[in-house]
Amino acid sequence: MFELPEDLVVLGMKRIEGHPVEGFVKGKGKKNPIIMLIGEAPGEKESVQGVPFIGRAGDELAKSLASIGLSRDDVYMTSAVRSRPYVWKEKKTRNGETTKRKYNRAPTTHEINAHAPLLDYELKNISPMVIVTLGNVGLQRLLGKDAKVSNLHGQVLNTRVRHLASLKENEYIWSDEKYIIIPTFHPAAVFYRPSNRDFLNEDWSKIGNYLNVFKL
Ligand code: URA
Repeated sequence: MFELPEDLVVLGMKRIEGHPVEGFVKGKGKKNPIIMLIGEAPGEKESVQGVPFIGRAGDELAKSLASIGLSRDDVYMTSAVRSRPYVWKEKKTRNGETTKRKYNRAPTTHEINAHAPLLDYELKNISPMVIVTLGNVGLQRLLGKDAKVSNLHGQVLNTRVRHLASLKENEYIWSDEKYIIIPTFHPAAVFYRPSNRDFLNEDWSKIGNYLNVFKL
């Protein structure tokens, strides 16, 4: 198992202090995996249990992995932000009362910057055969805001990625090393729009085809 060094965990928690986020989820998996998956941020279940992709989106992801003969053990799972971003909202109960509860929300740029050193470390040390970004947050963290999952999904990119220039500023520079990246949609995309399932299935079949080349 690959372990994020404790000082980076402490640094990540410190850098995100004061933002409406909770919990802390390290990446999970081994070094030199077949795939490194980069998601957005943990949801409620993940933040409580400290394990990535164990909620509804994780079940969808497991189906996609199974479709190309892989399981969670073959991949390294991580995300741009390690703490669950939440927002308080009112909710009507069945008896007409209103209560407040926390809902998931997309991470802000500040939160993504706060945890950038953690993903930078993983990118330098995990050495996967291929990186699969799940949704725009992971993709844009690596390639910048002009990269859009709607344009790039299913393509095999051989590219440098962005990493923080220093811990003091939020300036990104391009890595010397190139990485193979195949962007696809976040597994939760099928909950918002069921027709996304066709795109997801096609992308995962392309990821499978790309990996099959290495089995020859
Ligand atoms: N979405 C993510 O990006 N990561 C998780 O762990 C769960 C949902």
